Amino acid sequence: MQTGKFVTIEGPDGAGKTTVIKKLVEKLQDRGFNHIFTTREPGGSAISEQIRHVILDVENTAMDARTEALLYAAARRQHLVEKVIPALDEGKLVICDRFIDSSLAYQGIARNIPTADIWAINHFAIEDYLPDLTLLIDVPAEVGLERIYTAKNQRQFDRLDQEGLDFHNLVRNAFLAFEKEEDRIVLINGEQAIDAVVADCIKELEKHQII
Ligand code: TMP
Repeated sequence: MQTGKFVTIEGPDGAGKTTVIKKLVEKLQDRGFNHIFTTREPGGSAISEQIRHVILDVENTAMDARTEALLYAAARRQHLVEKVIPALDEGKLVICDRFIDSSLAYQGIARNIPTADIWAINHFAIEDYLPDLTLLIDVPAEVGLERIYTAKNQRQFDRLDQEGLDFHNLVRNAFLAFEKEEDRIVLINGEQAIDAVVADCIKELEKHQII
């Protein structure tokens, strides 16, 4: 039986999700909250990490948008079954870096696949496992891309990072639109100093009785 809570963190590329999650977990642990499982998509399990590699490989320029959408959904299914559901069954707080809203924003809106189709394949993948709460870490697309491209935050560019500003603007605006439509999603200003971002995340976790 599921007793845990499922929280997802979403946002445009370069929003700082990875750092936010790390600091958020530290703060929660300082408060004695240790029953936490952090993970990410695409990936988070051996099979899903292999799928991640295929999706994000910069050599895979021939990948069709619907193939991409199906691969994200497949990685999601495997990770959900192998990692997320068992952790929820153990009563853990699961914090997952990206989930279904990323597919709706990137593959649905930015790649221009009807969002009803993205919902359909994802419903097949996740059944009724929607997050209890989604924290949307928002930054303008330019800010996110700038962070990715600065030497300080350098990481390997993946196939999606290489999309242009227009694509990343579509993604950002899609997330903002989803937040307006869905009570499950709350907006966090990702342009603030990291401690303020984390403090806002904690406030929302409290408000929504996640912690
Ligand atoms: P990451 O940089 O947050 O690890 O995510 C890798 C890329 O995959 C990022 O550009 C967002 C993209 N993505 C999708 O396009 N659809 C999805 O469903 C997910 C989970 C990620």
